[in-house]
Amino acid sequence: MTKILLSGACGRMGRQIAALAEENQIVAGVDVNPRQDTSFPVYPSFSLVPDDAAQNQIDVIVDFSRPEGLPALLEFARKHGLAVVLAATGYNEQDAAAIADAAKDIAIFRSANLSIGMHVLRTLAAQASQLLAGFDIEIVEKHHNQKIDAPSGSALLLYDAVRREESIPVFGRNGRTQKREEREIGLHAIRGGTVAGEHEVGFYGPGETVLLTHAAQDRSIFARGALRAAAFIADQQPGEYGMDDLAAAMLRPQEQS
Ligand SMILES: NC(=O)c1ccc[n+]([C@@H]2O[C@H](COP(=O)([O-])OP(=O)(O)OC[C@H]3O[C@@H](n4cnc5c(N)ncnc54)[C@H](O)[C@@H]3O)[C@@H](O)[C@H]2O)c1
Repeated sequence: MTKILLSGACGRMGRQIAALAEENQIVAGVDVNPRQDTSFPVYPSFSLVPDDAAQNQIDVIVDFSRPEGLPALLEFARKHGLAVVLAATGYNEQDAAAIADAAKDIAIFRSANLSIGMHVLRTLAAQASQLLAGFDIEIVEKHHNQKIDAPSGSALLLYDAVRREESIPVFGRNGRTQKREEREIGLHAIRGGTVAGEHEVGFYGPGETVLLTHAAQDRSIFARGALRAAAFIADQQPGEYGMDDLAAAMLRPQEQS
């Protein structure tokens, strides 16, 4: 069992992970707003995590906090030689450089969407885009009425997966008075109710349509993905890893002991 230090332990995702982890799998947590209702100790900063726990009881840090916490997290992970799963979103270029530098010494897994189902959608959509050359592509995403940004980060990941050399993104077509160009890829956002997240990539060709969809029922899919990523990264050499590496490992036959 991979032993975890949970960063952002008291947030929505932190609590999801604690609920899905095995008994005693979460050794400790770090959160700037610690709560006392967890079954493991939560410290307000990495500097307060006891050295003994860091060196003897923890295999991986799983981070669902905020990018601001990155420097302290990487310093702590490097000091104790711990692998890391970075799940927070919103890193800038400076953060990316710090992650690349730390990955010289420790194994770092990073993904803005840890759902294995969404990874499968991206992989299939990329393949379909190549096979269905000449088909028009349109991406539609649906989310609950509390979501602030549009289109979703996952819709943009899908755009990157299906884009062709000449592609240009078109965000909605409100006010347009010209017909669709072949190189356009439309991105459309729908907001309403409590929809956890739905993404559809449509390929529209002469006389046929292919629709690939992914629907998230709740946020537990990200927590399951994070636990899977933690088990994977615990055994890896220093370097940067992502969902492609995890998927490749899942497809490899289990080594016989
Ligand atoms: N990769 C994925 O698949 C995935 C899925 C869902 C959410 N996320 C990302 O995970 C992050 C957390 O999401 P959430 O919905 O749980 O948010 P949240 O606001 O509910 O929880 C964040 C927690 O982190 C704590 N925190 C903030 N700054 C911190 C710091 N510097 N050090 C330690 N703890 C700190 C907060 O006190 C809070 O308890 C966001 O960046 C979100 O976009 C990623």
